[in-house]
Order: sequence, then structure tokens, then C-alpha cells
Amino acid sequence: MNTASLQSASTLPTHLAGEMRSNHAGETGAVWIYKGVLAISRDAEVRAFAEHHLATEETHLSFFEDWLTSRQKSLLLPLWRVSGFVLGAVSALGGRSWVYASIEAVETFVVKHYESQYAALESFGDATLMAAIYQFCNDEADHRDEAGDEVQGQSGLLKAWCWVVGAGSEQAVKIARRI
Ligand SMILES: [Fe+2]
Ligand SMILES: [Fe+2]
Repeated sequence: MNTASLQSASTLPTHLAGEMRSNHAGETGAVWIYKGVLAISRDAEVRAFAEHHLATEETHLSFFEDWLTSRQKSLLLPLWRVSGFVLGAVSALGGRSWVYASIEAVETFVVKHYESQYAALESFGDATLMAAIYQFCNDEADHRDEAGDEVQGQSGLLKAWCWVVGAGSEQAVKIARRI
């Protein structure tokens, strides 16, 4: 998506700048989740799923990457990359069912995260920005549903892991809004 018609990111109010920092951090994590999956998985179906999602996450990331100023980006980007990679790699070690369940857990969180920004975006009033965030949120909902369609019965361990993934994503966003 093109950032040329956007208002300068330096005009963002503090609250929204924090939200956009967390979006950039989250999309960084998302790209690295799929890199982690691809580093480990030899399952052709899982690899095709990860490659397809990775391409979308890269377009989301480049939007924030190009638009935000370097001072608006999280100082903890190396941590978000490593966390995403580890999440993806551990999921892939668990096999197909773990990858799908983990992606469903992450994307369920991400959809709510983007939706929570709608009111503030409307009052900021940049139509291009709103269209972009709506589109990203729709993409994440597609990712969630594609993964969810493949999730069958989950073991107790996998349920616990998905809880950790969801809670970890929530904490990461809280931190990335600030730092
Ligand atoms: Fe994304
Ligand atoms: Fe996604």
C-alpha cells in the first residue's frame, strides 16, 4: 500500500503514535513468525501456507516501515524479531496442528488489536490511513480463519501454548505502545 497520500506520521497524536508503533512492532513479529516456521518446517502444506501469509505480512510491515519516522519505531525491534521467530519455530516443531493453532491464536488477538484503533482513527480523520488499517485487519481475519479451518482437536499442551501465545502478544503490544 502506498504511503504517499498519508498525512506525515509526525502529526500523529501521542496515543495514535503509540498504537502505530505497536502495529509496526506486531507486523515485524508477524513476518518473523513465518520466517521461524519456514526455517523449521519441511511440510509442503505448512510451507505453502507460511509463504503465502509471509507475503501479506511483508506488505503490512513495509507500510509502517516506510511511513513512521525512525524515532516513532519501537526500540525493541530485535526483541520482536526474535520473539516472532521463536514462536514460529516452536510451532513448526510441534507440527502442522501447532502451526495452525498458533496462527489462529495470534491473529485472533491481532484482529481485536486493530479493531480497538478504529475510533481513534476516525477522529484523526486520515482516510488513507483508515483504509489501510481496515484492509490489514481484514487480511488478519482471513489468516485467522484459514488457520482456524485447519484446527481440529487440541491437546492440553497445545491449548496451554496457545494461551501463552495470546497472552504474550498482549504483553508485547502493551510494551511496544510505549517503547
Ligand atoms: Fe499483518
Ligand atoms: Fe496476519
